[in-house]
Amino acid sequence: MYTPKKYDHLLGLAGFSDQLLQNHFKLYEGYVVNSNKNFELAQNALKVGNTYEYGEIKRRFGWEFNGMRLHEYYFDALNKTAKVLDQKSVLYKKICKDFGSFEKFNDDFRSTAGMRGIGWVILYHDTVADKLFNIWVNEHDVGHLAGEKPILVLDAFEHAFMTDYGLKKPDYVEAFMKGIDWKVVEGRF
Ligand SMILES: [Fe+2]
Repeated sequence: MYTPKKYDHLLGLAGFSDQLLQNHFKLYEGYVVNSNKNFELAQNALKVGNTYEYGEIKRRFGWEFNGMRLHEYYFDALNKTAKVLDQKSVLYKKICKDFGSFEKFNDDFRSTAGMRGIGWVILYHDTVADKLFNIWVNEHDVGHLAGEKPILVLDAFEHAFMTDYGLKKPDYVEAFMKGIDWKVVEGRF
């Protein structure tokens, strides 16, 4: 099944303490372990014909899986040598077209991140209508756009910033935006 990815190369990332990052890597690994465990438990429940247990275990899978995969989108796009988005790139042009300007996209992404609660901010590409949206996802699972592609993913759970920033979430978002390797993000579009 799934193997946790290693993100030790991110230690020393500007705006993030090693303590915060190391704790965050451990939390992420928990989702990988639990995704595997959930799958195995469901198979075992099915073997003994326990449909109630099977159903309840299956119900949890998406939560664990998204907890795993969203962290991978998040960490994969960070880099100690961040790269800005090339203004000649297809993604830059599309962001400007759909949001009005790159600054407007930035404001919208940050405003979404400023929402109360725990969850994720995701720049999604609706591939059916070819449209970009910044979306708030509650916890790991409520609010995703069915079948569409996550382009940029921000962890807006408190564990992602409180150790370093307390309640100053906008400062965390600022550090995140500065640490983005837009080459990786561009590759998702
Ligand atoms: Fe997280």
